[in-house]
Amino acid sequence: MSKVFTQTQIGNLTLKNRFVRSATWENMATEEGHMTDKLYGIYKELAEGGVGLIVTGYANIVPEEKPNAGMMGMYDDSFIEEYQALTDLVHQRDSKIVMQLAYGGTKTTYNLGERVIFAPSNVPEKGTNTQGKAMTLDEIDYIVQAFAKATLRAKQSGFDGVEIHGAHTYLINQFLSPYYNQRTDQYGGSLENRMRFLIEIIEQSRKLVGESFPILVKLTATEFFEGGLTFYETRVICKKMEQIGVDGLIISGNIHGKAIDMVGQSFDGHTLQQEGFFHQYGAVISQDVNIPVITVGGLTDIAAIEQIAESTNIQCFALSRPLLSEPDLVNRWQSGDRSESLCETCSKCRTKRGNFCIVNKERKRIIAQMG
Ligand SMILES: Cc1cc2nc3c(=O)[nH]c(=O)nc-3n(C[C@H](O)[C@H](O)[C@H](O)COP(=O)(O)O)c2cc1C
Repeated sequence: MSKVFTQTQIGNLTLKNRFVRSATWENMATEEGHMTDKLYGIYKELAEGGVGLIVTGYANIVPEEKPNAGMMGMYDDSFIEEYQALTDLVHQRDSKIVMQLAYGGTKTTYNLGERVIFAPSNVPEKGTNTQGKAMTLDEIDYIVQAFAKATLRAKQSGFDGVEIHGAHTYLINQFLSPYYNQRTDQYGGSLENRMRFLIEIIEQSRKLVGESFPILVKLTATEFFEGGLTFYETRVICKKMEQIGVDGLIISGNIHGKAIDMVGQSFDGHTLQQEGFFHQYGAVISQDVNIPVITVGGLTDIAAIEQIAESTNIQCFALSRPLLSEPDLVNRWQSGDRSESLCETCSKCRTKRGNFCIVNKERKRIIAQMG
C-alpha cells in the first residue's frame, strides 16, 4: 500500500493516514462564533471523506478580537458543549480533529475601528495597512493566558489536540518577525526574545493540559521579503519547538493566495514548487527535528504527494482548497481514482455566503441544502 494511506502518529495521536485537512475558516459560524447546522454538516462531510486529521478553521481566543466574520470561537466555556457534539461526530466517523487557535491582529480589514487590535509594535501590516496597538507586558500576559485557557477548553471539548497559529502574519508570526517586531524589551530584538511570546503560549498551555495532549504549531517557512523572518530563523524556531514539547509542525508560507504565481522563485536557498509550494522548506525541517512535519500548500496530485512522501521525511500532507472542492478527495484517491483534484487553486472560495468552491458547481447546491 502507498505510504500516504498508512497509519501514523503525531505525539500520542494515531492517524489512519497521512492526509490532513488544513485549517480553513468557513465563514459559517454565528456572529459570536457558535456552531451552526452548516458547520456541523461541513465537518461531517470531511470526516466521511477519508482524511486522517481535520484541523478546524481558526478560532478566536478572546471575544473582542477576530480577524474575520463567521469564525469559530473558543474564548469562553459556553463553547465546550457544542464542540463535544462536533468532536463526537468526527470520532464516530473514524477521523480525528484538532482545533486551530489564533489571535489575528493587523492582517485584517474586518470591523476596523470597532476594537483594539494588538500588535508587537506600531508597524502597519504590509497587505492591509492596518496599524495595531503595541502591546504592554500586561496585554502580552493576557493573550498568553487566553491561548492557554482556550487550549484547556479544547481538551475539555474532546478535541484530539490544538494547532497554535504562528503563521500567515497573524500576531504570533508578527512577534517572530524582525520586520513587525521592533520592541526593545524582552519580547523583541534577538530571535530568542522574539520567540518568547510563542514559547510562553506553549508553556502556559502545557501547564493546563499536561504533557500528553497534542500541541501543534503552524509556522511560516520564510516571510518571502527582505527584512522579514528568514528560513534560517524558522529552522531555529522549529528546533526550539521540539525542545519545549511541541508534537508537530505545519510548515506554510504567508502567501498562499499568491504562491501559485511565485512558483519557480527562490527565497533563502529554496524554491517554491508547483506541487506542494513550500515542501522544500518542510523537507529541510523534517531532517532537523524528530517531531512530525506537515507540509501545506498547493498539493493537488496524489502521484506528486507520494513522491514527496518517498523522497523526504515529511510525514503528513495538509490540504485546504482541494477539500473545499472535494471533501471526499482522500477516499476517491484511495479507491483508485487517482485523477487530480478538481481544485484550480483560484482562491475564489471566500464568499460572503460562506467559504466553498464556486468552480465545482455541485458544491454550491450541497452547501445551500445544509441549512
Ligand atoms: C477559504 C480559506 C480559509 C482559510 N482559513 C485558514 C485558517 O483559518 N487558518 C489557517 O492557518 N489557514 C487558513 N487558510 C490557509 C490554508 O490552511 C492553507 O494554508 C492554504 O490555503 C494553502 O493550502 P491549499 O493550497 O491546500 O489551499 C485558509 C485558506 C482558504 C482558501
